[in-house]
Amino acid sequence: MRIVVLVSGTGSNLQSVIDAVKGGELDLDIAAVGADREGTYGLERSSEAGLETFVVNFNSFPTRDEWDAALTARVESYAPDVVVSSGFMRIVSADFIAAFDGKYLNTHPALLPAFPGAHGVRDAMAYGVKVTGCTVHWADAGVDTGPIIAQEAVAIEPGDTEESLHERIKIAERRLLVNTLAALAAAS
Ligand code: GAR
Repeated sequence: MRIVVLVSGTGSNLQSVIDAVKGGELDLDIAAVGADREGTYGLERSSEAGLETFVVNFNSFPTRDEWDAALTARVESYAPDVVVSSGFMRIVSADFIAAFDGKYLNTHPALLPAFPGAHGVRDAMAYGVKVTGCTVHWADAGVDTGPIIAQEAVAIEPGDTEESLHERIKIAERRLLVNTLAALAAAS
């Protein structure tokens, strides 16, 4: 199974995939890691791991459609079986989703369909829920919508900050992502 991973930030979920591949727990090929901007830690980690990286810089394109078409073409060039949005903070078009129909995997730091969007952890805390968590799902053309593959609950503790809660969610999220990819690789 060949995957392309898309990241916008620190890429700690990506690192768990890299570690699982290197440790032999995950039998797949990371064809490339792509980002929407230069200079992210996610790209640095990937280069350090000897992976191919690419940037389709959102700010270098006059329109979102042109950026999206360039991203689609670049990802397609790797002929991936699965494309993983791992902290990729850009909404992609219906054309991108169609190009990778049923192959675009997303992780989200909340128990979808609750708290979709860019601030899933903050929104759950602001609502006052006592349990939140993380979700791995196949992405469709909506924002954090599409068939759910796996979820894990994480309790919100007294004194939690958005950062402390997000870090605890990410521990569960990394496990969920690696386990999901392992199951997909085994079935491929
Ligand atoms: C993860 O928690 C991921 O679920 C979230 O960004 C974080 C990236 O962490 N994505 C979203 O909120 C998308 N809606 P990482 O860069 O350390 O892997």
